[in-house]
Amino acid sequence: MAGAATGDRYTRVAIAFHWIIAALVLWNLMGGLGGDILPKSLSGFFWSGHKAIGIAVLFLSIARLAWRLGHRPPPLPAMPRWQVVVGHITHWLFYALIILMPLSGWLFTSASMKRQPISVFGLFDIPFLPVAQGPQAGAVPHAFHEYAGWLLAALAALHIAAALKHHFVDRDRTLARILPGEEPKSR
Ligand code: HEM
Ligand code: HEM
Repeated sequence: MAGAATGDRYTRVAIAFHWIIAALVLWNLMGGLGGDILPKSLSGFFWSGHKAIGIAVLFLSIARLAWRLGHRPPPLPAMPRWQVVVGHITHWLFYALIILMPLSGWLFTSASMKRQPISVFGLFDIPFLPVAQGPQAGAVPHAFHEYAGWLLAALAALHIAAALKHHFVDRDRTLARILPGEEPKSR
């Protein structure tokens, strides 16, 4: 495949995509699910900008997926086969969810009878998608947004636990391959 990473590090572009999107997704999960878990004031803090941040995640994730399809990740350190398989399944579910989560939010917000503007921090509004409006029109994407949000949070917990286990228990380079700052061996 063209554009495979050289050495054992992800490319700089892949690293930047990973950490920017990870921060924005975790922020939106804390806002969205925070109503159930966090005190109201704290969830309100994370909630502000939810829609604008989510739309940014949508476009960044499409660009990231396009980049990923042309760039093979660096080789993994030695690990049991099942860990490689679970990792691949998690990563591809992530790619699906970081596109479908914001898309479903954009869809049900656009289908609502009382459309609330999708404001980018008061600077300008994102247009609504050209979908029919009605009391039940956004029901399916709304339900998806809720359940897929829990799935995304569970996958993120698994993914973070796996990364920390590789780094601190196995002491291999799984995490170092995607951390910024190390002298790059790749583009
Ligand atoms: C990274 C992308 C996104 C993530 C991870 C995310 C996550 C979540 C989660 C977990 C909830 C709580 C679901 C529930 O318990 O009902 C939620 C609610 C909500 N999200 Fe998102 N979201 C994202 C993008 C968007 C976008 C792009 C929009 C709209 C343009 C949006 C609009 C909303 C709205 C309006 C609610 C409240 C729904 C309600 O009141 O029932 N989200 N989001
Ligand atoms: C919700 C937030 C996150 C999302 C959506 C996410 C998504 C992803 C995806 C899609 C990949 C695969 C990249 C590829 O090969 O194409 C990946 C790799 C990786 N992520 Fe995350 N990530 C998140 C947060 C984190 C955090 C907080 C950590 C560290 C504690 C982390 C550590 C890693 C590591 C070590 C890899 C490389 C794994 C490998 O190559 O097998 N991620 N992440």
